[in-house]
Amino acid sequence: MIPRPFAEMASVGVAVPPRVLTNHELTGMLDTSDEWIVERTGIRERRIAAPEQSVAMLSQEASELAMERAGVSPADLDAIVLATASPDRLLPSTACDLQALLGADNAAAFDVGAACPGFVYALTVAEGLIASGQSRTVLVVGAEKLSTITDFQDRSTAILFGDGAGASIVRRSSGNGRGILSTFIKSDGRLAPLLYRPGGGSSDPISERVVCERNHFMKMAGREVFKAAVRAMAEACDEALRRAGVSAEEIDLLVPHQANLHIIEATAKHAGMPMSKVMVNVDRYGNTSSASIPLALDQAVAEGRVKPGSLILLVAFGAGFTWGSAVVRW
Ligand SMILES: CC(C)(COP(=O)(O)OP(=O)(O)OC[C@H]1O[C@@H](n2cnc3c(N)ncnc32)[C@H](O)[C@@H]1OP(=O)(O)O)[C@@H](O)C(=O)NCCC(=O)NCCS
Repeated sequence: MIPRPFAEMASVGVAVPPRVLTNHELTGMLDTSDEWIVERTGIRERRIAAPEQSVAMLSQEASELAMERAGVSPADLDAIVLATASPDRLLPSTACDLQALLGADNAAAFDVGAACPGFVYALTVAEGLIASGQSRTVLVVGAEKLSTITDFQDRSTAILFGDGAGASIVRRSSGNGRGILSTFIKSDGRLAPLLYRPGGGSSDPISERVVCERNHFMKMAGREVFKAAVRAMAEACDEALRRAGVSAEEIDLLVPHQANLHIIEATAKHAGMPMSKVMVNVDRYGNTSSASIPLALDQAVAEGRVKPGSLILLVAFGAGFTWGSAVVRW
């Protein structure tokens, strides 16, 4: 058995579509206002992928950047673990399409379905593959084209979501202090109907009726989701810190899932961390589900807020309900 930390995040890379959809544009489509959206969510704009831009293609761009930054070639990848709530097709996995695009011929590729904390779940799976000796180098991806499963006639959800992708090379720890110090994942499937896509799967296959009822789009009970998110993010912070044996004061940067500024603020308050130690970019991208943590982390690295040796806390919550967290020495 390899001693902990078993694995380290060697890099991060991202890709976002160029098309920006602002709150002002949404006001032309829905009965809403820029002020309402900013006040309730902190979101100002989000990215929308072009019809021909697939989740696998966004993932490819992010992955190639992450591989270049880690000095890894496609042939080095033993596994590709891709988290998404908006796969390109229901069969096969988007991870297999990504494998083909990358030419990662030595990898096993599969998707993880855990909604917004998908990246943290995929990171946990990657750590396990490395700890068991199954893999040395794993590509972890969180990628979404949520614009295709968002109902742009529903003002309570249309304002929230956006598209994007993030990737990280996770590899066997080099023993230089870097590494994943803890992970925590948990779910409560009883709460699934509060945030879900009712139609289009095998329980209610796609049909004219499903489309007419708009049941192929996400449905959400916003207020209940909000309350559960605050509770779950707090538990996730506590657990990752406890398992890593570090205190909140030792954390250099909190990198939370970017769903809503007020959920982020409540999480920081619970952890006793000032907002100056919290990464926020929900204003630029909205909620990109599994891509949100790598998008925030990449920006933090680019801005010099995460440097080699920084101790970071990743925490996320989403449909399922699912939640998770990790403490990482960068
Ligand atoms: C969606 C969310 C912003 C709504 O904010 P809220 O303060 O809870 O608002 P409510 O749903 O209680 O609705 C309040 C009113 O605003 C209205 N409203 C909803 N969306 C609106 C919009 N985009 N513009 C203007 N008014 C809107 C509602 O119709 C309601 O009107 P009413 O009082 O006349 O019935 C908020 O609940 C939220 O962010 N929840 C968490 C969602 C989330 O993060 N999901 C992903 C988890 S990973």
